[in-house]
Amino acid sequence: MPKTLLVPPRSPPPRPRPRNRSPLSAPQKLASDYEDRKTNQNPASKRLEQLAKKIRVCIKCPLHASRTLAVPGEGKPTAKVMVIGEAPGKQEDQTGRPFIGNAGRYLDHVLEGTSLERTDFFITNIVKCRPPSNRTPKVEEVETCTSLYLFEQIRLLDPELILLLGTLAVKKMLGLKTVEEARGRFIENEGRKYLASYHPAVRFYREDLAQKIKEDFALLKKELKALAGNR
Ligand code: URA
Repeated sequence: MPKTLLVPPRSPPPRPRPRNRSPLSAPQKLASDYEDRKTNQNPASKRLEQLAKKIRVCIKCPLHASRTLAVPGEGKPTAKVMVIGEAPGKQEDQTGRPFIGNAGRYLDHVLEGTSLERTDFFITNIVKCRPPSNRTPKVEEVETCTSLYLFEQIRLLDPELILLLGTLAVKKMLGLKTVEEARGRFIENEGRKYLASYHPAVRFYREDLAQKIKEDFALLKKELKALAGNR
């Protein structure tokens, strides 16, 4: 009798790994892929990222010495609305992301009820590094940071609307002295359209401004809905 050669059984072929299923429906996925392609192909996208890299290593003003991380800003390069605040706070300094602390949470709250989310905006600040103890940025810090970075970000994004939050942003971008002078209406300046309101943080120590802030954001919501309709 020929000897039987015992061949160990071959292990079964590995089961195909389940594909990562998108939580989006097919039409939603198509729309989202289209948005991604539009964003990646956007010529501003690469330039904005190059600018962000420069900002992260910038040492052009004294604020670099006390910062943890610079905060270039974030959002879609195709965003129709740009939000400009004053300067990063403590949490922003630690994470490198704009408006993620209390002020940011208020911003999110204001966006509820619109069809837009913060990812639809490009959010940044007048200066990209946190001033020590959150003091107001000095004139030379503002001049350096805006002339090197903010104006270029605006040029690349070419937004349809710029929302200014707080006195510093209003002073720098519109040349007005107070938010009070600027708020409640759309302002055209050097070919750009602006809306201004108090800085979200003011709400925590000026209860009397709550109503005005509500009104300003109601105006913004109306405009955002119109812009979203035009997409
Ligand atoms: N306040 C700002 O002006 N900007 C931020 O990013 C956070 C708080």
